[in-house]
Amino acid sequence: TPLLIAARSTACRTIVERAPVTRNLVSRFVAGSTLEQALPAVEELTRDRYVTLDHLGEDVTDAEQAGATVTAYTRLLEELGRAGLGARAEVSVKLSAVGQFLPFDGEKIALENARHICEAAARVGTTVTLDMEDHTTTDSTLSILRELRVDYPSAGAVLQAYLHRTEADCRDLRYEGSRVRLCKGAYDEPASVAYRDRTKVDRSYVRCMRTLMAGAGYPMIASHDPSMVTIAGRIAADNGRPADSYEFQMLYGIRDAEQVRLAAKGNRMRVYVPYGEQWYGYFMRRLAERPANVAFFARSLLTR
Ligand code: FDA
Repeated sequence: TPLLIAARSTACRTIVERAPVTRNLVSRFVAGSTLEQALPAVEELTRDRYVTLDHLGEDVTDAEQAGATVTAYTRLLEELGRAGLGARAEVSVKLSAVGQFLPFDGEKIALENARHICEAAARVGTTVTLDMEDHTTTDSTLSILRELRVDYPSAGAVLQAYLHRTEADCRDLRYEGSRVRLCKGAYDEPASVAYRDRTKVDRSYVRCMRTLMAGAGYPMIASHDPSMVTIAGRIAADNGRPADSYEFQMLYGIRDAEQVRLAAKGNRMRVYVPYGEQWYGYFMRRLAERPANVAFFARSLLTR
């Protein structure tokens, strides 16, 4: 929790960004600060896996920054097309980075911007998944998804198993063609809306997997948790689902050997690859998830 508070603090951000060791450490989780740096990693990964690319950034404060995000994604998608990666790589977008919280017409601006990104994705034969941010954004994000799907039916969304509402959202979103990325959830949420206990989150994750796998949609099991991965395989088999009717997803730099193993067994395995300059929020959420990551960070600060 302190790390998630730090993730939102400007003072902490300055300290962490300026620490000389941070760069090396960040490169464990982030594929590069530019698209040119990230592309070789993507090409390498797509040999046996699939990829979703995230241009890092969140919470823009004016329409110009939101427009810059759209430009970054358009350029990214053109490059994916040029590299012939449209069938192996899609993009993940945070609506807060395309204007969702701008004071005037934020939602409308985000929808229009997301539409431009979906259009650019369609041009190179790929698609877009909307990341999910804190619980105050869930309704707005799902309503933007509904609008986008009218013209871009392959647009997908993320649902977070730690929210009480998510099982019901899984039921609503399990129709034919619906792509749902199920994760545990990475924000510091109040007990009024979310399970705070790990076991309860895991149980909810399993219930959500059952709901999605029993439906007609395309579930995307985004977790590094070995139990969740095993249970997903079992539930898929119980539902008679072929290996290409769902997929596993993990983050860049996390459990790489397990990613390779799952792909080699004939599963679809997609890696979420973030790149860009604005890595701070993403990086701090990864530290908060896993004490071992913090220890690793602390050790590198001390041994430098
Ligand atoms: P969790 O952190 O609960 O770990 C469970 C177990 O997994 C550990 O005990 C360990 O055994 C194993 N494990 C985990 N990390 C490991 C490591 N580094 N090395 C070895 N073993 C490890 N969140 C969100 O709120 N909105 C979003 O849009 C997204 N998007 C997203 C996309 C994708 C593709 C992924 C994989 C994740 C997200 N997330 C997210 C993040 C997600 O909500 C969650 O915070 C993290 O995935 C951590 O939860 P896990 O289910 O991975 O396992």
